[in-house]
Amino acid sequence: MSLYRTRVAGTGSYLPPDLITNKDLEKLVDTNDEWIRERTGISERHRALPNQATSDLAYEASLLAIKDANLEPKDIDCIIVGTVTGDYQTPSTSCVLQAKLGLNGIPAMDVGAACSGFIYILSMADAYIRMGMYKNILIVGAEVTTRFVNYKDRETCILFGDGAGAWVVSRTDTQAKDVVYSSHLRAEGSLGDLFIRPSGGSKRPFSQEVLDDNSYWFTMKGREIYKNAVRTMSATCQEALEFNKMNSSHIDWLVPHQANWRIMEAVANHFDFPKEKVISIVDQMGNTSAATIPVAFDFARKDGRIKRGQTILLTAFGAGLTAGSAVLQF
Ligand code: ACO
Repeated sequence: MSLYRTRVAGTGSYLPPDLITNKDLEKLVDTNDEWIRERTGISERHRALPNQATSDLAYEASLLAIKDANLEPKDIDCIIVGTVTGDYQTPSTSCVLQAKLGLNGIPAMDVGAACSGFIYILSMADAYIRMGMYKNILIVGAEVTTRFVNYKDRETCILFGDGAGAWVVSRTDTQAKDVVYSSHLRAEGSLGDLFIRPSGGSKRPFSQEVLDDNSYWFTMKGREIYKNAVRTMSATCQEALEFNKMNSSHIDWLVPHQANWRIMEAVANHFDFPKEKVISIVDQMGNTSAATIPVAFDFARKDGRIKRGQTILLTAFGAGLTAGSAVLQF
């Protein structure tokens, strides 16, 4: 029996100011605005400034989330960052962020579950809080994908952007209604080669050869990813609803990983969920990997769609392949 439950106490997001529009991409690869919008729903993506790394975006989003929770940085007792585009291979981006926030001493860790990263770290934070280990955990999905995208590959470069979204999740009592109800995680490592950065790790470290053969960049089998994304996100949504004895009418908003509008639409159709209740800002952000869910959530809160007391379903898939879902009352 848990002594505590987890509440979303504050949210924040940050998108860097520089934009890459579809027109900009037309100048780099053989593509066009109409094709990109029709196949993905994306019009523009944000790009980190040359002096910004992942921890800088994470820092901006974190300050906003901590303020929104009516807390100060010193109240945070654990940091978990979801990222696959961290500042360095080591130290972790969460340690860099911890130093920026002046929080020496508290635990800080990164989780590399790609686009499912935010659901993975929410699930971990929920477990820590239920166990009584921490009171106020800062969870951040933050990515600077544009440094790992090959702007000569038209299939990938149209998709990705940079951003960060943060939540403070806090201990509350077991009678509270505004809590994380459930999270479900899964992974299928046998499908790992569908989205991979083949070189730059211990398997194939950096060399001139790696730079020459372009294996340093993200590579993707887009159509296969698409099919698996719809399959796994639909399955995790179904699992979440069944676990909570809910159906789609109990959910006020679906906040899916923002990879491609057609994927979100197919997932909503799968369980007869009205498209008007799907939060999508993919048109203005593209795929920011682990950051998409907290950024989309924060935008929808600020524009008045997501309100306190509502029931929200989150779902994601990502490289790995990973996937997951969570249900919460905000
Ligand atoms: N502009 C114009 N034409 C293009 C482009 C482009 N940017 N990209 C591909 N094409 C071409 C293809 O070469 C192909 O041409 P062909 O028929 O002559 O061979 C044609 O368009 C159709 O290609 P498809 O792959 O069938 O196009 P599809 O409708 O599947 O859309 C897309 C491609 C957008 C990549 C889609 O498959 C998709 O979104 N997949 C999911 C990708 C994703 O979400 N990846 C990230 C997740 S992984 C992570 O977690 C980090």
